[in-house]
Amino acid sequence: MRSTTAATADPRGILVVDLGAQYAQLIARRIREAGAWCEIAPPARALEVARRMDLGGIVLSGGPASVYAADAPRVPKELLGLGVPVLGICYGMQWMCQELGGQVLPSARREFGRTEIEVGDAAGLFEALPGASVVWMSHGDQVERLPAGFAVLASSTTCPVAAIGDAARGLYGVQFHPEVSHTRRGTEILANFLYRVCRMPGDWKPGSIVDREVAKIREAVGADGEVVLGLSGGVDSSVAALLLQRAVGERLHCIFVDNGLLRLGERETVEATFREHFGIDLTVVDASDRFLASLAGVVDPETKRKRIGRDFVEVFQKEAQRFARAKHLAQGTLYPDVIESVNVHGGNTAVIKSHHNVGGLPESLHLALVEPLRELFKDEVRAIGRHLGLDARIVDRQPFPGPGLAVRIVGEVTRERVALLQKADHVVTGEIEKAGAHKGLWQYFAVLLPVKSVGVMGDARTYESCIALRIVESQDGMTADWGYLDRELLGRISNRIINEVRGLNRVVLDISSKPPATIEWE
Ligand code: XMP
Repeated sequence: MRSTTAATADPRGILVVDLGAQYAQLIARRIREAGAWCEIAPPARALEVARRMDLGGIVLSGGPASVYAADAPRVPKELLGLGVPVLGICYGMQWMCQELGGQVLPSARREFGRTEIEVGDAAGLFEALPGASVVWMSHGDQVERLPAGFAVLASSTTCPVAAIGDAARGLYGVQFHPEVSHTRRGTEILANFLYRVCRMPGDWKPGSIVDREVAKIREAVGADGEVVLGLSGGVDSSVAALLLQRAVGERLHCIFVDNGLLRLGERETVEATFREHFGIDLTVVDASDRFLASLAGVVDPETKRKRIGRDFVEVFQKEAQRFARAKHLAQGTLYPDVIESVNVHGGNTAVIKSHHNVGGLPESLHLALVEPLRELFKDEVRAIGRHLGLDARIVDRQPFPGPGLAVRIVGEVTRERVALLQKADHVVTGEIEKAGAHKGLWQYFAVLLPVKSVGVMGDARTYESCIALRIVESQDGMTADWGYLDRELLGRISNRIINEVRGLNRVVLDISSKPPATIEWE
């Protein structure tokens, strides 16, 4: 039984068992978007998490393994006997069939891509949906014989067992992927599982997590505990700050380190938002001299990153010592940073991704961690930010790297070069946002190149620096396409940079995708 108070109790939720690849996170996001709370666990911890949760149902994700492979993820069979409905997707369905006495065989050919299924029995998963619909398949093995009690609910010409169900036991399986957007009715199929089969409440919204997180913070920090938080002005630490303020009020102390590598007006925006608007206790440390001194003469990108990381830890640590009564450090760590991803090849080892913005801080500070966003996805954090009254300028911000403009100044970083880039970048972001062209873009910024070229200005020859425009579309920053703006907007950006920023006489457009290029230039 869970030993939580009513205020910190988890809502009724779905457990998504991560059977490999990237499917589980996407499934979890879709479930939450549909209004139901859910958590992800690797198979080795699934039973323990299921027993801790107020469980409404289970989804077994897809994964790259074959049920016959020696290294196939071992799912605890007990999950099928907890008295809640189970939906197996792709590998999840095959595992369930095999476990319950059915038969799975390698099919004659691998099926990958779009295909059309015919629904034979709509009860449960396909209620209120059309009889035929397009789905996305990706599998080698196929279910050949159903376990007792199951019936085929849908099939395609290449995959006779595309969806199955045993309504009496609440067990369902789909060979296709309802979580991907290519499956046209995928959202409705998942919603049918959540609401018609599992009878979930359907009232979960990102905002519903606020009261629970506030109560949890109070419980962790105690009635008079003080908390320190490193505020960067990005979405995550900003939303964390507002949640912490709700929970502990003036016992929250935010530290903003100005490393001299910020965007134009960034420090002022943070001061206006957090100190003036929200009345948060904010310390701004101007450490730009120190950071720029450390970067003098450095051109190697990794050395830049290491020196900036080291200086940040030292500056933050010194500042945090002023709050000697604080026993807690708050961080805006997100769910994707902490999910234990299943290692399908090596049994039960969990791989936990480190959070590259905050490396080294907690251990050296000897403070206990408070991470109120650790169960949330980025878009949910944004929704909470809006719910808490955070300005769209911060909530909808593009990602900005921890090392700041240093990784957008190719070559040596000097105060003068930072100033050049800040002005050019301000034109780029300002013009794109004014035109509304930022919607659909992941990042759009200026990069200062270590190149000088010849130009003419009036009668005189110039020999000045060059700016590259980096405009990318992406879902998660892992891969990216270069984005294009209309000619007029590009022209306006280029003209303004060259006319308004002394020291720049050329603007070029970066048309490289990731991979093989990266988004940042360093
Ligand atoms: P790349 O350049 O690797 O960037 O394609 C992918 C995403 O990560 C951001 N980025 C960083 N973020 N510290 C950060 O906090 C870093 O050192 C760093 N390097 C890249 C980048 O802006 C993009 O969104």
